[in-house]
Amino acid sequence: MERIEKTKLPQHIAIIMDGNGRWSKVNSVSRIEGHRKGAESVRDIVKTCREIGIRYLTLYAFSVENWLRPTKEVRALMGLLEKFLRSELREMEDSGIRLMTIGDIEALPEKVKKLLQKTIEKTSNNNGMVLNLALSYGGRDEIVGAVEKILEDIDAGKIGPADITKETFSDYLHTSDIPDPDLLIRTSGEYRISNFLLWQMAYTEFYFTGTLWPDFRRENLIEAIVDYQERERRFGRTSDQLSGD
Ligand code: IPE
Ligand code: IPE
Ligand code: MG
Repeated sequence: MERIEKTKLPQHIAIIMDGNGRWSKVNSVSRIEGHRKGAESVRDIVKTCREIGIRYLTLYAFSVENWLRPTKEVRALMGLLEKFLRSELREMEDSGIRLMTIGDIEALPEKVKKLLQKTIEKTSNNNGMVLNLALSYGGRDEIVGAVEKILEDIDAGKIGPADITKETFSDYLHTSDIPDPDLLIRTSGEYRISNFLLWQMAYTEFYFTGTLWPDFRRENLIEAIVDYQERERRFGRTSDQLSGD
């Protein structure tokens, strides 16, 4: 933690938590056991982000494509989510964490949906850190959904075509209250974004690691942040412009 430059913290970290299945293979346990171990990493990383002073943490917990997995695995993932929400509410309240979600929450089982609503409500006044869970999330679905809502508002006469800008478009996304991620981490050695935050990651710094998600803990996160802090974010400009030369 001492290695982190406090004045250059990423405001928003997004993580594609991948590799639970491969971890289970390596360790000769069931895939479900791999997900269970992955949930331990979630706890560790949430806690570490809070301690470091990260303002927003978005975790890709379940993609809209993940519904295509075997029913038994989907059910187990939903069960783990439920367990996580039940066991972490107290911790979130104590450490000032506010829960938010992005994705098609309506598609989730009723029990999980209710629990999410309750947790979101109970933590809504916390301002230590936002924990944003991407659930039944798909970046393309989100963008298409935004277009549909914009058309509805145009039809209703609330806005006109001239009102549509990059900024107003962002307001129609699930992340309207959340800044774009500064740093994206993907574990397990895959180099793709798998339909995650397509619009929002226009200028995000990417960090890929071969570490499998159940093995990704505090020290690995610190490593990723240190790596991020060594980069120069130019946003299209030249290096000289940034240093004021
Ligand atoms: C990530 O691990 C968890 C989810 C996608 C829900 P995986 O289950 O995708 O692990 P691999 O990719 O099979 O190793
Ligand atoms: C991405 O991982 C989704 C989550 C981590 C929730 P996947 O394992 O589903 O991604 P692909 O299918 O390998 O691209
Ligand atoms: Mg995977």
